[in-house]
Amino acid sequence: MSIDLTTGYLGLKLRTPLAASSSPYCKDIANVLRLEDAGASAIVLHSLCEEQIQVESGELDRYLTETAESHGEAMSYFPEMMSYNLGPEPYLNHLRKAKESVDVPVIGSLNGVSTGGWIRYAQMMEQAGADAIELNIYYMPTDLEMTGVKVEEMYFDLVSHVKASVRIPVAVKLGPFFTSFAHLATRLDAAGADGIVLFNRFYQPDFDLESLEVVPNLVLSDSHELRLRLHWTALLYNRIRPDLAITGGVHTAEDVVKGVMAGARSTMMTSALLRHGIKYLEKVEEDLIEWMEEHEYESIRQMRGSMSSQSVAEPAAFERANYMKVLSSYSLKA
Ligand SMILES: Cc1cc2nc3c(=O)[nH]c(=O)nc-3n(C[C@H](O)[C@H](O)[C@H](O)COP(=O)(O)O)c2cc1C
Repeated sequence: MSIDLTTGYLGLKLRTPLAASSSPYCKDIANVLRLEDAGASAIVLHSLCEEQIQVESGELDRYLTETAESHGEAMSYFPEMMSYNLGPEPYLNHLRKAKESVDVPVIGSLNGVSTGGWIRYAQMMEQAGADAIELNIYYMPTDLEMTGVKVEEMYFDLVSHVKASVRIPVAVKLGPFFTSFAHLATRLDAAGADGIVLFNRFYQPDFDLESLEVVPNLVLSDSHELRLRLHWTALLYNRIRPDLAITGGVHTAEDVVKGVMAGARSTMMTSALLRHGIKYLEKVEEDLIEWMEEHEYESIRQMRGSMSSQSVAEPAAFERANYMKVLSSYSLKA
């Protein structure tokens, strides 16, 4: 029996649901090629960040002077960021080169929060050949005056501005920390998002107790992180127009199956590849085929959404009704 692994995401035909999400691998064309060789069905490049564009234009300096309590200290965070990602021009050249080098779709990633001149880079990514844009909105509302409504308005403004400036599809990658995520998703839909990528991981700093410094601490994910994504994908599937993709906690073929059954059109990997190397993608695809053969599935399409809230016998499993059941399911060890 030949198994059909194809899936559609953002209007693009993908060979399988297994895509490579933004990671340091994407900064190097040799690794972009290796990702394609190992079977990545699409490659999301690392992000071009609002701050990088503003650094070049001098806007960031002005912004920090006006807003940061300690300008010098705030500014000191940026050189490291500039060395992680390429500046705007090299980024666009890299995108062009990536497009020339691989046949799979290449998705440009724009990371920021405010509307402004910097978002014209979405257009430049389109001109450089990007098949789609992933707009990673990473905002930390620490201002005591900032209301949830204002935060969400910023998201919708940004999405509709970027959508208005390009013809290629735009997916929005964001975190889960909203009061009413389901409603937010409907508003992103109304703002024109073609896809929603669930979820950004927020990198929480740690304390170094010896030096008494706040230190960045990037911990790679494991499959446990998938649960939150499954939950929201299953809840939103077929209820909003944008395609759903999962990033965060996809490590095994079973994770891919779960993501697809929840309703994801693409399941993306970063941590697993950083941990096991790019070739690990091949194993996940082999395992996926094996799993589907064993369970007599013929296509990804057949599985998609089969465990969504609209398909399962007990949709309450996704809602508050399940809360008491979960709590009482825990048994104390003797
Ligand atoms: C070292 C590293 C660099 C990353 N760089 C980016 C980036 O530039 N842009 C972005 O949107 N996400 C970035 N991410 C987030 C990943 O694309 C992904 O969404 C996240 O790691 C969750 O997926 P995972 O559980 O498969 O790792 C990065 C993640 C890691 C670990």
